[in-house]
Amino acid sequence: MNNFIFYSPTEFVFGKGTEARTAEMVAKFHGTKVLIVYGGGSAVKSGLLGRIKGLLDEAHIAHVELGGVQPNPTDPKVYEGIELGRREKVDFLLPIGGGSVIDTAKAIACGIPYEGDFWDFFIGKAVPEKALRLGVVLTIPAAGSEGSGNTVITKVDGLRKLSVRTPEVLRPAFAIMNPELTFTLPAWQTACGITDMMAHIMERYFSNTEDVDVPDRMCEGTLKGIVAEALRLVKEPHNYGARANIMWAGTIAHNGTCGVGCEEDWASHFLEHEISAVYDVSHGAGLAVVFPAWLTYMAEHHAKKVAQFANRVWDVPESDDKRAMALEGAARMKAFLHEIGMPTTFKELGIERPDIDLLVRKLHENKGELVGNYVRLDRRATREIYEIANS
Ligand code: NZQ
Ligand code: ZN
Repeated sequence: MNNFIFYSPTEFVFGKGTEARTAEMVAKFHGTKVLIVYGGGSAVKSGLLGRIKGLLDEAHIAHVELGGVQPNPTDPKVYEGIELGRREKVDFLLPIGGGSVIDTAKAIACGIPYEGDFWDFFIGKAVPEKALRLGVVLTIPAAGSEGSGNTVITKVDGLRKLSVRTPEVLRPAFAIMNPELTFTLPAWQTACGITDMMAHIMERYFSNTEDVDVPDRMCEGTLKGIVAEALRLVKEPHNYGARANIMWAGTIAHNGTCGVGCEEDWASHFLEHEISAVYDVSHGAGLAVVFPAWLTYMAEHHAKKVAQFANRVWDVPESDDKRAMALEGAARMKAFLHEIGMPTTFKELGIERPDIDLLVRKLHENKGELVGNYVRLDRRATREIYEIANS
């Protein structure tokens, strides 16, 4: 196991009715003027936004709002939020929604105190050193942004989807997580979220670091739990227990717990970010297409841990033929993804003729000549993975 620092100061307030504690939590972290950020309307329609504004009013906490954040959030909304936040002198960010809303709020939070262009953080020209405090009301378990130190934004000019990772600055102060708020999620969004959280665990799990049995078992156990609860949700979307397990799994999948001491991979995420940037598909659905293709490629090139994954997560029997075990693991994962309604090829994702030349070129321009760590992938390898996903 490698040396590591694990710092996760977010206060999670989990369970039924917990959104009623939003104003109390904002006050606890000294918010006096709040910028509420939300998406395309689900929080308005469910009445959640109105309830939260009422709670802030009752607590005499001033607030302004920025709505209309779209999935795969883009830079213009961040600039709008930075301008609004500065003009209104806000001192606290309150995103109500999922990864897109939270990531926009995070970018605004570090953009407000920064004198330059916030995009500098995404292109590595500067590192965020401070940010306004931020608390989250989560409405979809998926991206794990409620507990992560990351934000992912797409620059419209050039369609560059890039991320910043500075946990010491960007982790939320608190996250309110009421699984009942996820009852309104369409089955498709639920499944996209489930795929994304599984991918977050797998990016950490596929590592060459030795002596990581505890992180491995945490990854495998959490993945098995997600699979069982996901299948329960297909039949019973209003099952509170299943929603609760899935919601918490989304957080531990990405707050760092599962990957401590391991060299992480992240190639599949980088491959996917190009797809959602160019074709504006859901990140989770893009991962459902990329990850099985990545597993299939690895069966041929480095089957060891994929075979372990196949055995321990998908109950593929042990054998000396690691390649065959790995391929069977990929097949079982694909079957599961189909069962929850996910696509596993470009075609099923609605992209008849993906521009693989463009995806490969953008990927390596954005992420360098070699991506991933489990196997370092060059242009030929990433092209092959996109082609497997297109077969
Ligand atoms: O916009 P509204 O109307 O709110 O609708 C949203 C949106 O259409 C809807 N939704 C959310 N909660 C709902 C609901 N609909 C009904 N009932 C509810 N309770 O769901 C749709 C998707 O929302 P979004 O926020 O886009 O989903 P998600 O949480 O999957 O976030 C995806 C974004 O996060 C990035 C992705 O790349 C993508 O841009 N990621 C962020 C990460 C991070 N910050 O650590 C890591 C991830 O790997 C990921 O890259
Ligand atoms: Zn993800």
